Amino acid sequence: MAQQDIYILAIESSCDDTGAAVCRNEEILCNLVAGQLIHEQYGGVVPELASRAHQQHIVPLVDAALKKAGINKSQLHAIAFTQGPGLIGSLLVGSSFAKSMAHALGIPLIGIDHMQAHVLAHFISSPKPEFPFLCLTVSGGHTQITRMDDYFTETTLGKTIDDAAGEAFDKTAKIVGLPYPGGPLIDQYAKKGNPRAFNFPVPNIPGYDFSFSGLKTSVLYFVRDALKTDPDFVEKNLADICASVQYAIIKHLMKKLEKAAMETRIKHVALAGGVSANSTLRHAVEEAGKKNGWQVFIPDFEYCTDNAAMIAIAAYHKYNMNRFTDLQATPYAGRPNL
Ligand code: KG4
Ligand code: ZN
Repeated sequence: MAQQDIYILAIESSCDDTGAAVCRNEEILCNLVAGQLIHEQYGGVVPELASRAHQQHIVPLVDAALKKAGINKSQLHAIAFTQGPGLIGSLLVGSSFAKSMAHALGIPLIGIDHMQAHVLAHFISSPKPEFPFLCLTVSGGHTQITRMDDYFTETTLGKTIDDAAGEAFDKTAKIVGLPYPGGPLIDQYAKKGNPRAFNFPVPNIPGYDFSFSGLKTSVLYFVRDALKTDPDFVEKNLADICASVQYAIIKHLMKKLEKAAMETRIKHVALAGGVSANSTLRHAVEEAGKKNGWQVFIPDFEYCTDNAAMIAIAAYHKYNMNRFTDLQATPYAGRPNL
């Protein structure tokens, strides 16, 4: 007998992007994201405004997602949502919506760990990594290297002890006067600059952990001092500053990833999270793969930054394991223990 198709609606609302996606088994039927431009004028995400914008977006976005997927809500088998980590007000909007919809339809609820979902985005397209694999997850809130032994069995080998890699990009952007989120703009300017123009310190801490706060401070002091002698310094050197800071960030990330791959002897190596959209980082991982004989997995752009397709694929695998979430479940600002 043919196996029944499983349809899942997934909601992502951990930070400032509202996402809604529908999957049929492992196939993503649609993946919609409503961004929030309101934060740009404040130079960073304002939690109160983010949760309010999620409230405005979520109903029309879910309607549009079901329409685009060509299905009716009565066909859904489960509702998935990001349970954490993230901004609590933002998470509450997605979780309350998902719980209400699951309750009204009488179908299971599936809570997903946002960080695991970034990694599991690699199971949307082919080729897929084989377990065990290593994943460097670099986002606005987190930076970590994990060893994945199964879909939901992971070991954190190292993580940032202060800022995340995405924050290093965004804070640098702010220092040089670029709007939030600055990561994609630094990527663009860096393409026209010289990565060796200025010497920013590559953090040097033991093990597989990361640290970006010292780099951020050195960029701040460097720019402040340079502006004292030349008020147009940043304007004249923007591309070189961006390329040089980006060089230090990527060098730090790659050193740790290569160390982890060498010491664990794992040859399937993946990149995930918003910063995995960075063109130079993607290239660096490809090159390291060629040099070290890794099979490299880099997400399509659509699945790098926050999206609900990654929540859907993670939920599909949980559905197959009958791992459902209680309707009383609460969201977590930190990583939930799911
Ligand atoms: O995964 P994500 O969408 O949200 C979090 O879970 O944090 O990551 C957002 C981060 C931001 O810091 C943003 O500046 C960064 O990803 N980012 C980039 C690029 N695209 C997004 N950083 C560097 N280069 C990019 N092209
Ligand atoms: Zn994320």
